[in-house]
Amino acid sequence: MMSKTRSACLLLALLTSITSATPTVGWPFDEQLPDVARVGESYSFTISSETYQDSDSDVQYSTSNLPSWLKFDSSSLTFSGTPETSDVTDSQDFQLIGKDSSGNILNETYSIVVSSNPGPYVKDPVSSQLSSLDSPTEHHYQLGVSSTLIV
Ligand SMILES: *[C@@H]1O[C@H](CO)[C@@H](O)[C@H](O)[C@H]1NC(C)=O
Repeated sequence: MMSKTRSACLLLALLTSITSATPTVGWPFDEQLPDVARVGESYSFTISSETYQDSDSDVQYSTSNLPSWLKFDSSSLTFSGTPETSDVTDSQDFQLIGKDSSGNILNETYSIVVSSNPGPYVKDPVSSQLSSLDSPTEHHYQLGVSSTLIV
């Protein structure tokens, strides 16, 4: 039969292993694009609640060293702000901190780019691209109301 002391020790060991789980990276922020903000355009990005994972509690998120134009709302997990020309940078580091209910912390550094270049845009409308497809063998393309290409 197990002594009371021994079972208390086992219980303590068990509790220790349960509460010592620290948050780990689940889905890295830098794989959840976009991490590029553009001058004069509002940037808004909501991270996944699975960015950091903890086996036994929810993770509370916070940040440190965010650039002044960028704010983080810890309830909606949303980064937002509008950078100006003076904020242009190839790489601005900040920390995304995840804390579990026992106070264990995961403090990872990520970076965000602020570009003064405009974002990607449609250079040639689909209609002009289609007309350039005309060939001697005569293909007919019809654009439906929903702009679906029917061949
Ligand atoms: C996270 O790390 C950064 C940079 O090393 C540091 O400035 C910040 O105080 C840390 N935050 C916490 C909560 O540990």
